[in-house]
Amino acid sequence: MERALVIGGTRFIGRHLVEELLEHHYDVTIFTRGTRDDPFADDDRVTHREGDRTNDSALEAAAADVDPDAVFDCVAYHPKDVRAATRLFADVDAYVYVSSGAAYGSEEIPKREGETALEPCTTDQETDDSSETYGNRKAEGDRAVFAAAERGVNAMSVRPCIVYGPHDYTERLDFWIDRVNEYDRVLVPGDGTNVWHRAYVEDVASALRIVAERGEPGEAYNVGDRRLVTLGESIELIASALDTSVEVVDAGRRELEAGELEPADFPFYRSYPHVLSTAKLAGLGWESTPLSTAIDRSVADHRESDRDGADHDPGREAEERVLGILETM
Ligand SMILES: NC(=O)c1ccc[n+]([C@@H]2O[C@H](COP(=O)([O-])OP(=O)(O)OC[C@H]3O[C@@H](n4cnc5c(N)ncnc54)[C@H](OP(=O)(O)O)[C@@H]3O)[C@@H](O)[C@H]2O)c1
Repeated sequence: MERALVIGGTRFIGRHLVEELLEHHYDVTIFTRGTRDDPFADDDRVTHREGDRTNDSALEAAAADVDPDAVFDCVAYHPKDVRAATRLFADVDAYVYVSSGAAYGSEEIPKREGETALEPCTTDQETDDSSETYGNRKAEGDRAVFAAAERGVNAMSVRPCIVYGPHDYTERLDFWIDRVNEYDRVLVPGDGTNVWHRAYVEDVASALRIVAERGEPGEAYNVGDRRLVTLGESIELIASALDTSVEVVDAGRRELEAGELEPADFPFYRSYPHVLSTAKLAGLGWESTPLSTAIDRSVADHRESDRDGADHDPGREAEERVLGILETM
């Protein structure tokens, strides 16, 4: 495969994907509206095409001009986007849809492709824009991929769990890095053993390329860190990357009530563990970055950025009240 078209590509996952594709000698075209700065503007290996992917004729023109071998769809939030793309790119060697672990509709450990049920999606949900229907819409996008493969399209899906790493605009990990950086004692909801599977962004990028090159049409592939860590262990890894030490203080639901807090007020907390099996992807030869390297790179990028995760802050004063009560117990 030589020519790659990345729908998206200037922000987070897509941006790392472009770098991954360049490293593997693809000619890359990115397709965005141009509202965001293009980090590849000065790189003559990357061509930028301006357009809105929800406008089928703009995407159709890009399909005709670029004539890509592989298409990576990073900006499909509605099933109709996937249906349009699998129609416009019906002849490519690989169309890879960036789905999500949120597409799974059943709580199992681990969640496996082809085994764990997906979220249903009603016609109203299909066109909804709220975060509540995100998983439903992502699941319906997967079903559009499977239907396209039935028609002979080389369409595949990749399902990342929560993605973290350099340029992560969600700032979820930044919240925890900032806490460890600023304080000696860090309040962690639950008993510290909470698990919400995460995926290092460079591994998501390599997964997308590998699935395009070696995946089977009509198949979905989960991607997440091969080794999972609890929230408590994540804090320790961050402390080590910052070359500092920190006391992790666990606080259950009842202790948190003292600060009028609840566990879900904290990023990366989930009451039931969310774990994706990555065996199928590993079967294609995909490997994941060692956790300490992934966290080191994320922390280094955090230090160079102005991100602090403040939007996720449940309130340090409230946390201090809980820490004070726990000290007297
Ligand atoms: N972050 C996570 O934890 C996570 C987890 C699972 C799955 N995902 C999936 O990952 C994908 C998002 O990745 P990302 O934000 O990292 O992607 P990205 O490709 O790095 O960034 C979004 C890009 O899409 C462009 N864009 C947005 N709307 C567009 C439109 N209508 N037409 C053309 N271009 C458009 C933006 O540029 P312009 O604004 O200039 O157009 C930007 O380049 C989504 O499909 C999401 O569901 C994310």
